[in-house]
Amino acid sequence: MDSYLQIFENNKAWVKSKLALDEHFFEKLSREQKPHYLYIGCSDSRVPANVIMGLDEGEVFVHRNIANLVVATDTNINAVIQYAVEFLEIQHIIVCGHYDCGGVKAALHPTDMGQLNSWLQTLRDVYRIHQKELDEMTDPHHKFDRLVELNVIEQCVNIAKIDHVQRRWYQTGFPKIHAWVYDLQNGLLKELDVNLGDYFSGIRSIYDLRIAED
Ligand code: CO
Repeated sequence: MDSYLQIFENNKAWVKSKLALDEHFFEKLSREQKPHYLYIGCSDSRVPANVIMGLDEGEVFVHRNIANLVVATDTNINAVIQYAVEFLEIQHIIVCGHYDCGGVKAALHPTDMGQLNSWLQTLRDVYRIHQKELDEMTDPHHKFDRLVELNVIEQCVNIAKIDHVQRRWYQTGFPKIHAWVYDLQNGLLKELDVNLGDYFSGIRSIYDLRIAED
């Protein structure tokens, strides 16, 4: 069978397996979603959010784009974050990068990539912010891995700049923001060893929108 048509067969088999475990599965799931996490990850087909986290349907709200970027002018991600924090009242936002990310690799080398140029500019900005540390690394693999990690950290910072997130912080103390990296070589997720609270405090005088004083 054509592999495209096979998808519908897979879908029917999946429905059957779900109903075998719980005949009201879809009925219950269709009533509402109450996920505890917003996952922002790379579009890379090898990094499927639910699968790597071992979470079921309804448990994680997902946004994916090339190289897991949080761009201030991207109405798509802004809508996702606003909906997640204001309406779903999500308490944990995860930014998950992955080693061997093609988007990050492209940003390490000056190349004209057409439509991708403006998207990758955000990654090149991360490189510029951390250029000293990165250019001191002599092993290109270490440098690549480190840019993957620094990109995740900077995207966490970009979330902290958003008005909806700051408003929620003042109201509830949430969402917590988490910096993760997924390793394609062994399938493991890890939380980066970074104190985001300290990082946010250091740049607060620039990005705090004084929402508490509204
Ligand atoms: Co990627």
